[in-house]
Amino acid sequence: MKATTAFFIILEAALALAQCEAPVPCTDATLLALEESDCQKHHIFVARGSDSGYPGHNGVLIRTICERLKDCGYENIVYPANSTAAGPDMWCKSAAIGARHAQEQLTSYSTRCPDSKLIVLGFSQGGSVALDALGGGGGTVFQCVQENNPALDRTKTPGSKIAAAVVFGAVVRTAGQPYTAVGTDRFKGGEDYNGTSPRSDAHLTGLNQYSDILRDYCNFGDPICAKGSTPEDVDQHLNYFELYTEEAAEWVIETVQRPLGLSSNVKSEATTSGAPKDTVSRAGKKLESFYGTVAVAVGISALSFCV
Ligand SMILES: *[C@@H]1O[C@H](CO)[C@@H](O)[C@H](O)[C@H]1NC(C)=O
Ligand SMILES: *[C@@H]1O[C@H](CO)[C@@H](O)[C@H](O)[C@H]1NC(C)=O
Repeated sequence: MKATTAFFIILEAALALAQCEAPVPCTDATLLALEESDCQKHHIFVARGSDSGYPGHNGVLIRTICERLKDCGYENIVYPANSTAAGPDMWCKSAAIGARHAQEQLTSYSTRCPDSKLIVLGFSQGGSVALDALGGGGGTVFQCVQENNPALDRTKTPGSKIAAAVVFGAVVRTAGQPYTAVGTDRFKGGEDYNGTSPRSDAHLTGLNQYSDILRDYCNFGDPICAKGSTPEDVDQHLNYFELYTEEAAEWVIETVQRPLGLSSNVKSEATTSGAPKDTVSRAGKKLESFYGTVAVAVGISALSFCV
């Protein structure tokens, strides 16, 4: 009886979380209660993936981070998140709006709340948008050309207020950067492959300002962020939060404790970016039981998957 009750509680939580990824309104009350526009010590900006409801796949990571950091909440980067299915130019138009709004929202918040540490999260198109917002974006993606936007200067507000940023399965990304999360388990390995498009040299230079506080997760086999890592499989694009929520949350929490701004630890961070192997597998086991039930819902959403 007890076990049955526990199962249904887990199933309910799993479905609530899964809904926050689907194109319907999110109903996870615990997560939604973390949405906040007032000044907070730790404030997350989240960019959802194509066709997701707000806040999207990162919801479980937001919850995990804010369970462990005092005075923590999030706001959605407001943008359409249109997929390529919406029309030939729509992905690029959408991502350009996302990059612009992300920068505007970061600027507005850090002007109002100068003492806040900012955290940026993104998945898929939203991962691309997050990278664009930090390092500058634009160029050819899929069949369209995304308008250019400049980088945020790390030495000035709001760039200087960003304490950590993590992206998963980003569409526009370049292989083997100092901030690429490297393979300590069976899936990461996308470090050797470019995304749907690589980032331009100028945008990589912009992004490298943030190397010490940025992590870019990309699985081997993800057809979006690791083009050519055969066999490609959409599952490898949709399992980031089953595999890395614990690891990414630990990294964010550790990273936001550091002093803000450019520091001398850029180099040491780049060489120690992988979490210890046993931490990863322990975290994976813990999440595996929870996410067993989510797999069904994710499987359904994978059937109608668009980028
Ligand atoms: C683009 O996204 C917006 C907001 O998510 C949606 O309302 C709109 O219908 C989408 N456009 C197309 C052409 O699908
Ligand atoms: C990734 O893109 C860069 C820049 O266009 C290119 O120089 C490099 O060869 C590409 N790497 C792979 C593995 O395709």
